[in-house]
Amino acid sequence: MQRWGGRFTGETDPRVVDFTRSIEIDVALAADDIDGSIAHVHGLGRIGVLGADEVAVLVDGLEGLRAELDAGTLVLDPELEDIHMNLEAALEGRIGSVARKLHTGRSRNDQVATDLRLWTRRAIDRVDAAIVSMERALVGLAEREGQAILPGTTHIQPAQPVLLAHHLLAYAEMLERDRGRFADARGRLNVSPLGSGALAGAGYPLDRNGVAAELGFDGISANSLDAVADRDFVVEVLAAVALTMVHLSRLAEEITWWSNPRFGFVRVADAFSTGSSMMPNKRNPDPAELVRGRTGAAIGAVTSILTVLKGLPLAYQRDLQEDKPPLFGSVRALEESLAVMAGLIEALIVDPVRMREAADDGYTTATAVADALVRAGVPFRSAHHVVGSLVAAAEARTARLDAVTDDEIAAALGGADDVAASGLVGRTEIGALIRGAATVEGALAALDVHGGTAPNRVKAALAAARTRLGPG
Ligand code: ARG
Repeated sequence: MQRWGGRFTGETDPRVVDFTRSIEIDVALAADDIDGSIAHVHGLGRIGVLGADEVAVLVDGLEGLRAELDAGTLVLDPELEDIHMNLEAALEGRIGSVARKLHTGRSRNDQVATDLRLWTRRAIDRVDAAIVSMERALVGLAEREGQAILPGTTHIQPAQPVLLAHHLLAYAEMLERDRGRFADARGRLNVSPLGSGALAGAGYPLDRNGVAAELGFDGISANSLDAVADRDFVVEVLAAVALTMVHLSRLAEEITWWSNPRFGFVRVADAFSTGSSMMPNKRNPDPAELVRGRTGAAIGAVTSILTVLKGLPLAYQRDLQEDKPPLFGSVRALEESLAVMAGLIEALIVDPVRMREAADDGYTTATAVADALVRAGVPFRSAHHVVGSLVAAAEARTARLDAVTDDEIAAALGGADDVAASGLVGRTEIGALIRGAATVEGALAALDVHGGTAPNRVKAALAAARTRLGPG
């Protein structure tokens, strides 16, 4: 007979027992469930519902269960449906009938809502530390290969040169916003539902604030119906997980391209590469691919919880049990992904020569040349046109932009009236001006604005990131 079975005369169909059971999943809440129960017992003691001796026996028993849990000796009975019923039964096995007072003024509905908040709070703290480690890996690589120059792209086509350090710091920015989203979610979820009962409150003058404080909550929920039915925090955390995974996935995608020998910008270390069972030549960035792949499930998890919630009337409905698999699975995938990507980035072997060669290709300094002409008095739109024809002239003879001849420059400048008006045409220094601005170093240095890729700006951004994250 189930612990809730008083009003039943028949046994539960075994298919229903199997179908409704959640112990395999919610065993992850065991430590939080014990914490919640101990605080609840203390609270019942403070209002005199339990005597001091009963409190002592109950707390001692619960601590005993925690020791069994930590030692891996806690025996769970799948017939007992979930972690709450299992722990209550195990407590009774340990301390006898006084355990039957534990559930006074409490329902599994406010209990599971409490446990899940405690679990999620712990998870967020772990995730935050893992994101910091990932950011440190990015910053470490940026410091190690700070001078490397990438051909920055838009539309996947060569655009403008950027420092690799600048590119890596872009990911640190994304991850820093992710930390903020987790912190926001943590702030909102850190409210105690205990005392909400099944849906309507509890028939005892519970010390809700005292229990909340003991559990490290910042306050107590204001509405019992909302408190047992609310899984907004699961949605928020899953959304934050999905977005963090999307950020890791974008980086993973870049790693897969960069490590292709056609690019040859990086080599993924042996420890983070895998081979092929058939092709002896293969060297695959599987960890990065799996981060990208697992992002699919993380995005799906957000849809999963939202879909569970969308049709639920107040208050608790059993559907809510389906909150745990996506939450636990997604958080785990994120933690594993952060750990593996941090390792991959720390061990990444950069080829600055190949990067530089690619940055020299594709006329990535054309914008810098146009900007130089603007500084010499040419309207931007005209400068854009002039440099466009210089690019075409250079491309026609597969030369680089810093190798355009005085004749090609004169031809390009000649066409535009406002260029003629600027007084540049025919001046001897114009060739030096254009060819000087067309070097990658010149182009980089000119992007000297807060948030830009000029080396001095990146150096300052890197120092700021290092100060924020600390060493390690
Ligand atoms: N296993 C349940 C869950 O995760 C616990 C609460 C069950 N409450 C109930 N009245 N059946 O949501």
